[in-house]
Amino acid sequence: MVCWPGNPNSSGAFRRSCPSLPPRATRAGLRTTSLALDKTGLPPPAGGVAVPCLRLGTDSGAYRLPVSSAGCRVVNMAAPKTTLYQEPGGLERALVDLVRIGARGHAGGVRQLAGRLMRAIPPEVSDAGAFRTAVHEALSAANPSNGLRFDSGAIPTDAEGLHSLVNVDAVPGADEFIADERLAAQLQEIVAERKRAEELARAGVSVSRTVLFSGPPGVGKTLASRWIAQQLELPLVTLDLASVVSSYLGSSGRNIKSVLEFAKSGPCVLFLDEFDAVAKRRDDDTDIGELKRIVNVILVELDRWPETSLLVAATNHPQLLDEAIDRRFDRVLSFPLPGDSERRALLTRANQSDVPIAVIELAAALWEGHSHSDIVRFWELCRRKAILHDLTLEYVVVNQLIEQFPTTELRTSVWRHAHEQLDMSNRKIATLAGVSHPTVATGIRQAKDTM
Ligand SMILES: Nc1ncnc2c1ncn2[C@@H]1O[C@H](COP(=O)(O)OP(=O)(O)OP(=O)(O)O)[C@@H](O)[C@H]1O
Ligand SMILES: [Mg+2]
Repeated sequence: MVCWPGNPNSSGAFRRSCPSLPPRATRAGLRTTSLALDKTGLPPPAGGVAVPCLRLGTDSGAYRLPVSSAGCRVVNMAAPKTTLYQEPGGLERALVDLVRIGARGHAGGVRQLAGRLMRAIPPEVSDAGAFRTAVHEALSAANPSNGLRFDSGAIPTDAEGLHSLVNVDAVPGADEFIADERLAAQLQEIVAERKRAEELARAGVSVSRTVLFSGPPGVGKTLASRWIAQQLELPLVTLDLASVVSSYLGSSGRNIKSVLEFAKSGPCVLFLDEFDAVAKRRDDDTDIGELKRIVNVILVELDRWPETSLLVAATNHPQLLDEAIDRRFDRVLSFPLPGDSERRALLTRANQSDVPIAVIELAAALWEGHSHSDIVRFWELCRRKAILHDLTLEYVVVNQLIEQFPTTELRTSVWRHAHEQLDMSNRKIATLAGVSHPTVATGIRQAKDTM
């Protein structure tokens, strides 16, 4: 049991009156507090590979699964944004980052940076192809299992040999993952099991071989599979079952089999996306024969999946899955929509422009019921608009909140913030919200009265 400072129950409830929220100076309450704790309750593994766990500030219960396994102090060591390397001076920046990460002995970070470099070649590099090959070879040499498998041209293709059936990311990079305590602990356990596989084996216990991720769109199922592969320093092999089933229906059973064989040929994380495509299409009489064959192939494979590779399947529609399949997974993880703490963590992480905490809290409350992806996209949209129209991010965010949430209970708090902090006129607010300006005036008065 881990005790967190502050009242854990306070995280869910949004404090409606914005003025009572912490002023700018006390925003330090949202600073990241490092805590080298493994929330799985497992003792730190031998060799010191503690699964890092961060929590945000005193009033947030969200867990941030950083992109490195070298301890909390490296939480901000995610390789910088890919685009930075693509800009002039990118090579120099990459070198400095490499030295910084390498000097801390963080192999995972170096791999991640190399992966990003291969995707975003700096303009100073004269021969992009040769550079990519050289970086890839350097990585492969450091990890023979990657090199052997992916240099051999063994990636399965369709019958004509034209299209590769899977996407292979030899060095998967992953953004920080934000999850609630339960999901964070489950994901950390999956990683911990494999890092301590020998210990488990000595006790006669096997690692989880197959895992099912289920949850609505945009809650991080794909991101989590990348995060796991990155943490385990394994290549990520992705097969989109929906596209395999639709484009190669006649031969999908054979294609899936060849992908599974490929994934079994060496250690990797195999990610079967849109897993329900198989089960869903089973109801369709026209191709029932072929789909039955696919289901059978998968059932057999799930049963005898080797411990060397981790099979992760994802679905947005767990209810559509054949029960026989569901039961065969070693673990089933449910990915929820982000709670208040997670929404605040997502927005706080994205906020690099000093948008006041009051606005972050309002946004977090208003985006209730939406996915992580919706929130990330909202913020990116605001950033784009702020640059294009030369406005402050705070102004754009508040504008967008007024426009997108004209009927929610919290709208008057947003109006009030717009009016008092950003000098927005009642008329402007009324236009954005699609209401009359007397309605705005009344709303703002009410917001003041209820504080
Ligand atoms: N838990 C999370 N923590 C941080 N960012 C997240 C999280 N979940 C989603 N995101 C953001 O949303 C984007 C899309 O998420 P992702 O593709 O992993 O969702 P998904 O659950 O796989 O969706 P789908 O079911 O549509 O495939 C990510 O690239 C990331 O920017
Ligand atoms: Mg996905």
